[in-house]
Amino acid sequence: MIKRCGSGAGYTMSAVIIDGKKTAAEIRERIASRTAELKAGGVVPCLAVILVGNDPASLSYVRAKRNALSEAGMNDRSVQLPENTSEAELLSLIGELNRDESVHGILVQLPLPKHIDERKILFAISPEKDVDGFHPVNIGKLVIGCDAPLPCTPHGIVVLLKSMHIETSGARAVVVGRSNIVGKPLALLLSRKDCNATVTLCHTGTKDLKSITKDADIVVSAAGMPHTIRADMVKKGAAVIDVGVNRIPDASKKSGFRLTGDVDFDAVKEVASYITPVPGGVGPMTIAMLMQNTLEAAERTREC
Ligand code: GUN
Repeated sequence: MIKRCGSGAGYTMSAVIIDGKKTAAEIRERIASRTAELKAGGVVPCLAVILVGNDPASLSYVRAKRNALSEAGMNDRSVQLPENTSEAELLSLIGELNRDESVHGILVQLPLPKHIDERKILFAISPEKDVDGFHPVNIGKLVIGCDAPLPCTPHGIVVLLKSMHIETSGARAVVVGRSNIVGKPLALLLSRKDCNATVTLCHTGTKDLKSITKDADIVVSAAGMPHTIRADMVKKGAAVIDVGVNRIPDASKKSGFRLTGDVDFDAVKEVASYITPVPGGVGPMTIAMLMQNTLEAAERTREC
């Protein structure tokens, strides 16, 4: 058997392309069955996705989340608010949803318009309904290794690595990008005992990024910038996970743009052992993990 990850010199094959869509579909199927069981017991999992404004990328993410809810048989209490919604109005809506026992999860799509303090909003969501895992109580639990809803994209990446049997224990993992949504929680997750990786978190202040990525068995790019990871930055046989979803103007497309990741896919796949495509890699896993967090939030209410 070929040892694919981190195999070093002599590696000649093109990378295995990780099919996030397929893995996510399998997870969503299992979630739909668990949802049906919960519904038979009288609890219908319910998520409220709140979108403020009309950002095209956010609209498309929210549409995908709502489609997944419907496919799983969950209730959807989503709300779209105008761009000029005040912080007080948004806080008031979150308060109502916190008090509503039929709502199990609340997600405020980010980014928010500049006049709204993102932290105030995220802190206002009840930690029990925080299906993003962004509330400081849940982030604190992640840091100390207590059970808590995990941030969806980082969790999806770990599930994807495990589904491909990519060894994380003892692996050198480099995460590029220090966002609160992906980079920071992913670095924490990968360094926990159950992943056991040695993690380096790189960011815009990192000097000589290539010298760091070149040593890594696992490279995750969540920088939001095309060409962040080029072939000469990747060790032969490394696993490369691309979180970037960048819109590039493309007149040949009906939409006027095409999506591209942070990684130079065509060149890097000739060096790596595993690689995620964009689209169809990490994105579908984020949604599957959101459905899982919503289901588990609903299941917890039955345990109380
Ligand atoms: N915007 C981009 N990714 C996310 C996410 O995972 N959660 C929320 N709430 N907003 C996002």
